[in-house]
Amino acid sequence: MSAAVPAATQTRLIRPAGSVRGSLALPGDKSISHRYALLAGFAQGTSHIANFSSGADPHSSLACMAALGARVESDPQTRTATVTGTAGRFTQPSGELDCGNSGSTMRMLAGLVAAQAGTFRFTGDASLSARPMERIREPLESMGARIDLTGGHAPMTVHGGPLTAIDFEAPIASAQVKTAVLFAGLQAQGTTSLAEQVRTRDHTEHALRAFGAELLRRPDSGGQTRLYIAGGQTLNALDLTVPGDISSAAFFLCAALLFPDSNLVLDNLGLNPTRAVLLDVVTGMGGGIKMLEVADQHGEMAGTIQVNRKPGPLQAVDLSGQLAAQLIDEIPVLAAVAPYTSNGIRIRDARELRVKESDRIALVVKNLRAMGAQVTEHEDGMDIPGNQTLHGAGIDSGHDHRIAMAFSIAALRATGDTEIHGAEAASISFPEFFDWLDELAVR
Ligand code: S3P
Repeated sequence: MSAAVPAATQTRLIRPAGSVRGSLALPGDKSISHRYALLAGFAQGTSHIANFSSGADPHSSLACMAALGARVESDPQTRTATVTGTAGRFTQPSGELDCGNSGSTMRMLAGLVAAQAGTFRFTGDASLSARPMERIREPLESMGARIDLTGGHAPMTVHGGPLTAIDFEAPIASAQVKTAVLFAGLQAQGTTSLAEQVRTRDHTEHALRAFGAELLRRPDSGGQTRLYIAGGQTLNALDLTVPGDISSAAFFLCAALLFPDSNLVLDNLGLNPTRAVLLDVVTGMGGGIKMLEVADQHGEMAGTIQVNRKPGPLQAVDLSGQLAAQLIDEIPVLAAVAPYTSNGIRIRDARELRVKESDRIALVVKNLRAMGAQVTEHEDGMDIPGNQTLHGAGIDSGHDHRIAMAFSIAALRATGDTEIHGAEAASISFPEFFDWLDELAVR
């Protein structure tokens, strides 16, 4: 049911480059595409989604919505999806909801089906079947659903039914868990409220409002900022355009940092402030970023940026605390270019990296060492000294898209060629990645 990732393992050869130059329009943001797919499938009427992500993961969300009764047409070539929703009533799927590699699909959709009469069995690939699901079971069960897990993981069965609103204090920084609770709250009896310690990406909040839901964000009586969503709201279809994926852009932004005469123009790039903190970090490291144009698209900021490298050495950064949570998807590529900075990168408070599509701390450390770098591993991060020279090596992607792409960028400044084993994993979020890299890398 999910968009298939080629089973065979591919190896890509990455040769060193001298610069990156050119312009690109990134495929639609993965996080936003998931939310539009799920809410369009839940809403009443037909939504047309332009610049839908070409990655396999958001297509898993579309496939699940089709299995739940939505009518879905999608074309990864034209990056469009047309979804006729179920007007808030899913049909019982005839089989399992196969989420492929996509944790977002499994966790967020669990919130939508938790309020629906029926039994919904979720499965995923080997990587997804090892990822923690307790984090959504706990709040959804306290609202009245019953969820069976397998040792804390998928396969997962959600027994849906009438839900009651809760006041939820998010124990971990996770936009997926926040979304599951808001999606359940949308259908619960009463008003659900939620507070998070770290402000995670807020695409769900914008998407819910775009589809017509009312959602408030304001301080409670103790002065803590909370989200409030009343149950029993209906959603209406609309036409949307997904901004380009800033987490995919991160690979090219880091590539631009590596060379003094880089020059990239990125069009229709998502600039949501809860994600665009990456641009501050890139600027702090020595990137020159100009905003050429910015517009609001259904609450999401999108625009054109131009990126180059300011004169002087690449600066060190410290990625810890709130910053680590907000940059969680970009840490692999920032770590992969860390040896080329003058004073290295320190990463802490990023334990969540161990339970992503792979153990990203272990794999980054292993692959940096394969390229000859010194690195110290910590339970919740790593220390990567600067001023290091890397050599080409065989890289193990661990079937993880962000690892495959991160080390393709490190390879651009290494001495000698690098082989990325398991390169096909890039198609989970960014199937066009290697084509764009070939086009933009100047050799
Ligand atoms: C995502 C949230 C993050 C992120 C993932 C996408 C989302 O996961 O790592 O790639 O779309 O909400 P967590 O919610 O587990 O932090």
